[in-house]
Parts: sequence; C-alpha cells; structure tokens
Amino acid sequence: MCGIVACRTDGSPTGYLCDALQALEYRGYDSVGIAVQTRDGGALRLRGTHRVAELVERIADLPQSDLTGVGIGHTRWATHGGVSERNAHPHSDCSGSIHVVHNGIIENCEELRSELLARGHEFSSDVDSEVIAHLMEEEVGAGVDLADALSHTIDRCEGSGAMVIMDSDSGRVVGACRRAPLVGATSSNGSFLASDISGFGSLVASFQVLRDGDVVELAVPLRWTGRNPDQPPVVPHEWTSSDMGLHGYPDHMAKEIDEQPELAGRILDRLVGAAGSGALWRGLELPAFERVAIVGCGTSLNAGGIVAAAFRRFGLMPAETVIASEAADTVLGPRTLVIAMSQSGETADVLHALDGDNFAGSTVLAITNNPNSSLARRANAIVECSAGQEIGVAATKTFVAQVLTGVAVAISALSEQGRVDRANTRSILGDLLRMPDLLAQSLTVAKDVVPPLASQLAASQGVIFLGRSAGVVYAAEGALKLKELTYRWAQHYPAGELKHGPLALVEEGTPVVVVDSGGARIAGNIAEVAARGARLITIGGPGSTIPALGRSLMAPLDNGFQPCGPLESVIPMQVLARELALVLGRDVDKPRNLAKSVTVE
Ligand code: AGP
Repeated sequence: MCGIVACRTDGSPTGYLCDALQALEYRGYDSVGIAVQTRDGGALRLRGTHRVAELVERIADLPQSDLTGVGIGHTRWATHGGVSERNAHPHSDCSGSIHVVHNGIIENCEELRSELLARGHEFSSDVDSEVIAHLMEEEVGAGVDLADALSHTIDRCEGSGAMVIMDSDSGRVVGACRRAPLVGATSSNGSFLASDISGFGSLVASFQVLRDGDVVELAVPLRWTGRNPDQPPVVPHEWTSSDMGLHGYPDHMAKEIDEQPELAGRILDRLVGAAGSGALWRGLELPAFERVAIVGCGTSLNAGGIVAAAFRRFGLMPAETVIASEAADTVLGPRTLVIAMSQSGETADVLHALDGDNFAGSTVLAITNNPNSSLARRANAIVECSAGQEIGVAATKTFVAQVLTGVAVAISALSEQGRVDRANTRSILGDLLRMPDLLAQSLTVAKDVVPPLASQLAASQGVIFLGRSAGVVYAAEGALKLKELTYRWAQHYPAGELKHGPLALVEEGTPVVVVDSGGARIAGNIAEVAARGARLITIGGPGSTIPALGRSLMAPLDNGFQPCGPLESVIPMQVLARELALVLGRDVDKPRNLAKSVTVE
C-alpha cells in the first residue's frame, strides 16, 4: 500500500507534497514523511507517526527560502516494521544523499539486508524499503548513473512495488515500479510522480503510466530510460475535483451514509433505460458468455455476491464469487465473463488475480468507482459506479453503487442474450427503480432507532449477524462494517447454519443482528437464538427491532422479483457500526490498520 509522490517544481515543494499526500492518504495513514532538497545540496527530512494535517502544521514554521523545488513524500501503511518515526519514509543511505520512498514489499529483503550489513552499511529502520537506499548508494558510489542504478536496484528486489529516489547532491529524482502503480506528468508548474493521478490531477492535462521496466526522471518533459524501447502512451485527462467538504456532518462516513438514497436514484436514472434497451450491455462490446466469475475483496466481494445472485436467479446462469487473494485456485469454465469489482480499482489482490495463468485470455469487465485506475486500464471494458469520491475508509455508498450498477449490467446482459424476456426485464428494472425510496425509508428509521441500540452494545465483545438467501450477503457486509469500525469481533452466518455449531456461542445477552427478510424459516432461526437469551436486533418489517425493510420483505412481490434482495438492510448496519464505533471512541473515517486502497497482496 502506501502513497508516494515526488516533484520538481517552480512553486513550493512542501505545498505540493502536502496537498498530494493529503489526496493519497487514503492509501495508508500509519505515518507520513517528506524529504526536500535544500539549496546547499542537503535534504530536509520530516517524518512522523501523525497524519498529513499535522505535517502541514510542522511545515508552516519552516523557512521555505532554504529549499529547492525538488522533493519526495510518502504516506505509509505498515508492512515490515512497526509504526514509528524511524520506520516512516523517506529512508536514506549511509551518506545521507540518497532518499527513497517505496510502496510494496521486498520479498528478498532479509537476504539483501544481510549482504549490505556484511559490506558495512548501517541501517536506521526496520523496514524492507531501506535496502533500496543502500543498494542505490553502492551503485551511485560505483559511478553508475542514477537512472541506471535504479534499474539495477529494482531488478535486485523481488516482489511488487513502486519506488522513487531523490539524490539530494544532484537534485535528480527517478522512479520505477513493478506490478504496482506509479504515474508521471508535467505541467507549466513542473514535473510530478505519484501513486495515482489524484496526486497531481488538478495540475496537469495528461499523464503517463509507468510500465514494468520503465525508469522515469523528473524533468520537463519527463525523461524515460529503462528497458522499454518507447515511452508509455500519454493519457489525456480531465480532472474533476472532488468535493472533500463535510458540509456540517461530523465525519465523512456519516455524510456518505446519508448520500446513498440520492446516489441510488442518480445511478438508476443513468443505467435503467440503457439496461432495458440492452444498450448498456451492447455498448461494452464484449463477447457473449455462459458463466460469470466475480472477483473482488471485502465489501466489493460482498457486492459481487448480490450481482452473482442476480445472474443465477434471473438468467439461471452459473455465477460465482471469487475471493481475489485466493483466485489462483479457481478453475474458470469456458466462455466465462470475469467481472472485477473494485471501488478503488487499485486493489493488488484483484489485479494479481487477473494476471494469473488461470485467468489468461478471459474477458474482464471492471465495475469500479475509479475510471483512471489500474483495473480500468487492465479490463476489456468498464462500467463506472459513479458514486463520487468516498473518503471514509469503510465502504458505504460505493457498496450500494456497486450492487445497483452490477445488477443493472447483469439484467442488461441477460436480456440481450435472451435469458430474460422483455416483460420480465421491465418488471425487474421496475423493482430496481424502487430502491432509492426504500433506501431513504431505511435511512430515516435507522437514524432514529439505531443510536440508542448502539450504546447498549458498548460492553459486548462480539456480535453475530444472520440472514438467509440474499440476506446472508448483507449480514456479511454488516459484520465486516462492525469489525473494521469498532474493532470488536463480528461473524456472519446463514441463519440455518447456526444450529450446526455456532449456536454454541449464543448465551444470555449475546448480540445477534438478523436481516429478517421474512418467512417461516428465518422466524424459526430467530426463535432458536431468542430461546437461548440472545440480545436480538432484527432488521425487518413492522414489529422488528429496526423496522427498516420495505418491499424487499419476503412476502412475495407482485411479480416475484427482488433484484438486489434487501439492499436497504445495509443502512441500519452501517449506522450501527458507526454509532458503536463513536461510543467506543474510534476514528470512523480512518479505522486503525486499514487503508482505502489496498495495494499489497
Ligand atoms: C470496506 O469497508 C473495506 N475498506 C474493504 O473491505 C474494501 O472493500 C476492500 O479492500 C476492497 O477494496 P476495493 O473495492 O477498492 O477493491
């Protein structure tokens, strides 16, 4: 993970670096640091285990006139080595002139470190990245040009990653990557490198994506060396700045939860007509398929579960979800459409799953919130979720956006391939159009009923989540939200599975949240936990603890369709996780140990 940035600018390097790091902080926020070349050929290095906002305060006191426009910066998600100032990037060589920021894991780090120690290098951190600085030191010390030195160094490091080196003696900055994102661009303000386009998007009109084997040097224009005979294509880019303001909300998660009904309306306005006419699917220009594999992680995988269910239910089409980090074991049948589901489009597990031999030659459709992402570039076609930037690390509105977008794509594809007839397509899409109202109703109920419930759970060590059918996936998402925000144990089960073992966990007062989508069987499962004294919280229709479900109740709909299952049940569970987290004093926008974009395997 981690975010890396670099600049050679006529403006303020610290201003640029801080703005860029703030934009990239979603990639990790364990610690932050910058190194800027000083006019005497040294480097000013500032690091700490605080957030970027504090770095900005520290920088405000610095005399800018001592600095050149050359610098590098880093926001960290710890892999090797604890969270401490000494482990924060940039790392430097023994001479103090080579400085490195790195995103990734060096798999042969111990071996390299031992060699370097044996040759007399001194290490000042526990992180794998520091070996890069010392390897570069040896190369440069032997008279190798900085760009060639980086090419040799990245070849010596096993694993995936991106790295940027600043030589404070010469003021040169070079970058390279292997199976990890790094992009570069120039403008009238200078030249820039960053882990993704948000690191300089507002400053440039186009950018270039580094490929494995490229080495780029900050200059205007960028200077390309390395193994590739040509430079990467220039990608034009129109920056739409995101609204990062809180607009009166106490945190981004609260704002993003609230945005969901309106967002659902916007997404459906955009997609339903095209899904009904088949234009949505035809526009993707993908081949016909007979089965579906949806690859993703975490919340995106949960959203994929609902989309896979839509393919199965409406088209009787085999559709499975694949945990991206376990995808190597997947056997894809012939004519499989692979749908890669990822909010960030940068999730390493997803990208590497697609690179596996077992996925070679498969058609990939990306459903992502980031059309400029590595995934979007890798896929044969993309459909944007258009959720707007999600700043809270816990996915909320992007989950709803993924479900609705994915289900609309599924219906369009099935209809175009003759697996759902026109009348049924219209009925299903008609039901989909009810979702914004259902979500709005659920939000109103949740905000009213859930906060007092959350306070009552403050002393509970764990929560069980249950559901049946599509409700199982929503229970999974509820449990994931609770874990990541509150740091309390939470586990979901298909309600019918409980009696096969997990029921042993239930005792007097055990909190059990049930997505009660109605019907005799889930009523029986509720009775089973109630009989054992569980602290039951049902999300269902009238009479339930949180009466937030509308037409998604299992009482069969007129036409029998429920395109997304009880999607609106997710809102009370998001609110529950956030409220309990606040009671427990957690940072709901930046939960510990997590990051918004997970770029390591
Ligand atoms: C969701 O709340 C989590 N932060 C996490 O599970 C996330 O969904 C997962 O890491 C996948 O990310 P992606 O959608 O960017 O691929």
